[in-house]
Amino acid sequence: MHLLEEKIKKEGRVLSDTVIKVDSFLNHQIDPQLMKEIGEGFAERFQQAGITKILTLESSGIAPAQMTGLSLGVPAIFARKRKSLTLNDHLYSAEVYSFTKQQTHEISVSKDYLTAEDTVLILDDFLANGQAALGLVDIVEQAGAALAGVGIVIEKGFQDGRKRLLDKGIRVESLAILSSLENGEVRFAEEEASV
Ligand code: G4P
Repeated sequence: MHLLEEKIKKEGRVLSDTVIKVDSFLNHQIDPQLMKEIGEGFAERFQQAGITKILTLESSGIAPAQMTGLSLGVPAIFARKRKSLTLNDHLYSAEVYSFTKQQTHEISVSKDYLTAEDTVLILDDFLANGQAALGLVDIVEQAGAALAGVGIVIEKGFQDGRKRLLDKGIRVESLAILSSLENGEVRFAEEEASV
């Protein structure tokens, strides 16, 4: 997606060789027009997959999941990171370890919204080590639902999340793949392929 790559180049702030801040359009302020195109991009890739539910993790996955749900005409569910007063024991739960934040969260989804009848598309804003995506895969497996694949807005291609998902036979579709953030410079995977 050309528009997304331009936005990353223009507004992304490289914080280190492994982390990029994209608060101006994805992680804090949200660009609705870009989000609409992101939703259409995922819908195009998964149009034929018979998706009945989108599954993401709060908070930054919600905007792209909602727009993809709108394009595919299906609901979007977000797994919660904290137990709410109204989320009780009627839950699927999984543990997710964040390397970036060095914390483990228990994520949960109500059994009311995901069943063995569903075909699920997992979506997230970033793919780094794949821990969040694997936690969501665990929840889909607990529900006995079918998994159509994982859609990612920005993949850090220099970390091993994709490999972990492919090793489990899961289809991965990323709209932008970063090949490097070294020396404060954003490089995309295709850029390297074409030089
Ligand atoms: P993993 O799930 O692929 O293993 O990733 P990791 O543990 O490293 O990421 C934990 C959190 O940090 C996730 O957000 C993820 O989206 C985010 N993240 C990872 N790498 C980057 C990066 O280079 N830039 C930015 N901006 N975020 C990154 P989260 O804790 O779920 O936060 P949120 O969804 O509430 O915003």
